[in-house]
Amino acid sequence: MQFAGSHILSVHQFERADVERIFTVADRMEPYAQRRRITRVLEGAILGSMFFEPSTRTRVSFGSAFNLLGGEVRETTGFESTAIAKGESLYDTARVLSGYSDVIAMRHPAEGSVGEFAAASRVPVINGGDGSNEHPSQALLDLYTIKSEIAGRGRGIDQLRIAMVGDLRYGRTVHSLCKLLCLFDQLQVVLVSPGELRMPGEIVEQMRRAGLEVVESEQLEASIAHVDIVYSTRIQEERFSTQEEADLYRGRFRLNQSIYTHHCEPNTVIMHPLPRDSRDNAQELDDDLNDNPNLAIFRQADNGVLVRMALFALILDVVDQVDQHARDVNWYTARRF
Ligand code: CP
Repeated sequence: MQFAGSHILSVHQFERADVERIFTVADRMEPYAQRRRITRVLEGAILGSMFFEPSTRTRVSFGSAFNLLGGEVRETTGFESTAIAKGESLYDTARVLSGYSDVIAMRHPAEGSVGEFAAASRVPVINGGDGSNEHPSQALLDLYTIKSEIAGRGRGIDQLRIAMVGDLRYGRTVHSLCKLLCLFDQLQVVLVSPGELRMPGEIVEQMRRAGLEVVESEQLEASIAHVDIVYSTRIQEERFSTQEEADLYRGRFRLNQSIYTHHCEPNTVIMHPLPRDSRDNAQELDDDLNDNPNLAIFRQADNGVLVRMALFALILDVVDQVDQHARDVNWYTARRF
């Protein structure tokens, strides 16, 4: 694809070569993300950051990524702090905000809303999550993490065995990741969820058409026994009509160290897009996994900066200039990764 000037709205935009290009650029961002070098390549550029739903990782890592490239961030959080609360349309908001920004990252609770916004924007827009639809930069960082975690074992993404666990109906991260996996060969995917929270049928069909072997299950222990990756997800309680309904499923599939030891292969990588729900009645990934070296969740979150830096560098067409505008840092820096 042509990255320069493009919106990033869905993983459907990518061919396998595009994903590999993003990962190659992400690798080049490591000295900057690790604070060994700084670059001013985007000096003067402005990221408009518009998050109409709660976010810790996506919002802050988009902002950090832009700052690490030398750019500035202007942000709004929540509807109540914008004129949308006074009835302004997404169209008008997009026309105005795109006059103040060089690129925009946006999260919104309604499916398709970021695409609607992008259609009116005069600058590229990156989808930071639109309802339960898509979260393309998360899928990219998830796949980048999978690649990084298994590289030391001499494996690639092709032929991997992956279990996705939890709320597969409303979880946009797994929707985007499943679509992205369709670009790779001979994968086996086990989808573990309560029957009511199964992966949407059209995504399962898409995976099968792409040649992936897909099995659906409601049994955690048997499903994680022979996989390379366990990708756990939170019950997306904000997408349910009542709290009582969400509570029916919370804590249904808990992974802890004992279950891991007894059922997983020794090097199975544990992932989660985060936030994990650490309340007593949830614990989809128990705190007793925190010292497990195969728990990749914080490396996964770190990788969000690399991948989002890569997206900005590609969209704003400065990949080949990043190192020209760089120097070593002049402050004490602890190794971040
Ligand atoms: N993974 C993710 O989207 O996290 P946030 O909701 O904190 O952005």
